[in-house]
Amino acid sequence: MYIDGFAGPGYYLNSEEGSPVAAYETIKNIYLRDGDKIRSNCNLVFIEKEKKLFEKLNETIGAKKKYPRIDIHLMNASFDEAMYNLIESTKYEQSFHNAQPLLIFADPFGATGVPFEIIKKCFKSETTELLLNFDADGVERIRKGQNENWEQQLDEIFGDRSWEREISNSSSLTDGANKALKLYEKKLKELSGLDYVWAFEMRGKNDKINYFLLFASKNILGMKKMKEAMTALDKTGDFTFSDAHYNQLNLFDKNSYMDYANHLHEYFRGQHADMFTIEKFVLCNTPYTSCKTLLQQLSRRELVKVHPKSGFTLMAHSFPEEKIQSVEFLIKQSSFEQQTLF
Ligand SMILES: C[S@@+](CC[C@H](N)C(=O)[O-])C[C@H]1O[C@@H](n2cnc3c(N)ncnc32)[C@H](O)[C@@H]1O
Repeated sequence: MYIDGFAGPGYYLNSEEGSPVAAYETIKNIYLRDGDKIRSNCNLVFIEKEKKLFEKLNETIGAKKKYPRIDIHLMNASFDEAMYNLIESTKYEQSFHNAQPLLIFADPFGATGVPFEIIKKCFKSETTELLLNFDADGVERIRKGQNENWEQQLDEIFGDRSWEREISNSSSLTDGANKALKLYEKKLKELSGLDYVWAFEMRGKNDKINYFLLFASKNILGMKKMKEAMTALDKTGDFTFSDAHYNQLNLFDKNSYMDYANHLHEYFRGQHADMFTIEKFVLCNTPYTSCKTLLQQLSRRELVKVHPKSGFTLMAHSFPEEKIQSVEFLIKQSSFEQQTLF
């Protein structure tokens, strides 16, 4: 099931396709290509609050030739109202209780409209994933503006009063926005099993459009695929993304394997780790989509030693996970540290 919670009319005046059409076409093409391998049909739900835009959306989607394996459900309602209905409905029960994967795309104007309570309910399932356009600047504006209801709005965004403690005392809009983003990531990671949370900072060609797409999943493969998709988008040249963690830390050169390899070595120094644990660390703490490049870097510098499973021998600097028992991170100084010492 795919839910576009802030669907819009389905197209834009400059004739670009909107997110509902993009989703429909993508899913249809997946079925056309691989349909024989996919057992379930797909439910597509588009939610749009504004009546006029909803009518346009209805026309846009109605004009599409219906594909039999996709069931479309249009809802003229606000995201929260529609989501409560969907969560309660028996028709979609399976999608909210593990049986079927659910991807929620939430692309609101501004910071409000996506109550954390709903996100929490959706993540009761192990197979839910979220892609949220998170307006971190908007959060900071609400906090600074202190309009009517500003406290309730922040409570709704974060699900509690943690913002009072965690995002106060910001020195600038950027600082406040970064704190808001960090807090939101933290709130997501506090949900049971939600280990894979990543913020992509999106920029247009002219560097003007600048927003965060926050992805959250309980599944390592989900995280890997989303990072790969963003990397592919980056290569088209129409969009660039950097990861928001990188920008905030501002420690490393994004393109430098060496820095990230050293970071990895530093984290596990003196320990043995299995490939899953290393992959998880790399996915959650570096822009890389696989740990292998970084491990090869370390291996060439003799900073790691690979212990194969019994019965296997390995080629130098190769990391086939199915043959590896553990990787030992040797207690040697990395050349990075040696450089900084002298
Ligand atoms: C940024 S646009 C979405 C654009 C769309 N994702 C796309 O890429 O084509 C946000 C849309 O959400 C609608 N909207 C605003 N508040 C909403 C709410 N609380 N629930 C559902 N839709 C809402 C707006 O009318 C607008 O069409």
